[in-house]
Amino acid sequence: MSVALITGAASGIGKAIAHLFVEKGASVVLADIDDAQGRALEAELQSRSGRALFVHCDVANPQHHQQAVDEALRTFGRLDVAVNNAGIAGQGGPTAQYPIDEWQRIIDVNLSGVFYGLRAQLPVMIQQGSGSIIVVSSILGAVGFAGAPAYTAAKHGLLGLVKAAALDHSSQGVRINAIGPAFIDTPMIAGIVQDPVVAQVVTGKHPIGRLGRPEEVAQLVHFLSSDLSSFITGSFFPIDGGYLAQ
Ligand SMILES: NC(=O)c1ccc[n+]([C@@H]2O[C@H](COP(=O)([O-])OP(=O)(O)OC[C@H]3O[C@@H](n4cnc5c(N)ncnc54)[C@H](O)[C@@H]3O)[C@@H](O)[C@H]2O)c1
Repeated sequence: MSVALITGAASGIGKAIAHLFVEKGASVVLADIDDAQGRALEAELQSRSGRALFVHCDVANPQHHQQAVDEALRTFGRLDVAVNNAGIAGQGGPTAQYPIDEWQRIIDVNLSGVFYGLRAQLPVMIQQGSGSIIVVSSILGAVGFAGAPAYTAAKHGLLGLVKAAALDHSSQGVRINAIGPAFIDTPMIAGIVQDPVVAQVVTGKHPIGRLGRPEEVAQLVHFLSSDLSSFITGSFFPIDGGYLAQ
């Protein structure tokens, strides 16, 4: 693995992936809307490897993806791995009353944002004849969750997108897979688990008896990005402490 682009790299799972990839010797492009956290991570990683680049990228904007890919090529010369990880939890609420503008916002970022990423990343990898793309879905790509219709729909949609993209492009040397984390201890869920009662309920949904750690998710992403997974494409990998076994 040599050059990897990670969206939503400034925090949580994306940040853990960036750390692991640099540890494994990769050059990383950190794409995020959070310029302050993104630049801080860039500086931290550069102080260790010298091969990290932050690019401002709103995944809901197709042009931003193109700019991020162009920057990756300009700076590092190729693109071997893309991790489409950026996502937002959005507002909670039952389907019957779910705000239409919030539905649109979640779909724009969590579903269309990944499609726009694939549109920018795939042509480079097809031309190279090699590449691995990992899409961060969720356990909510496989089962529902009350009060989260837009998030659940977007994460389910990603699994369809990954299958279709893999059918289109696996014969051209590009592998495309999705992962499905359960609840992972990141800033995204900090608001949910700060209430000890809710934290206990959420933790209890994981047979393993705890939440996941971003570093554990990063290990799966690294496996899927590497040649260790050379015969794997179009698939979905839960990483969920047993959540989906119930
Ligand atoms: N934490 C969990 O429990 C959990 C579970 C399953 C799936 N996921 C998924 O994992 C991914 C990462 O989540 P996390 O827990 O690390 O969250 P996080 O909030 O810690 O980090 C998300 C990052 O994405 C960035 N981001 C948000 N909107 C963006 C946009 N429009 N364009 C570019 N960047 C944007 C944020 O600035 C932030 O740096 C998300 O897709 C999320 O849905 C998380």
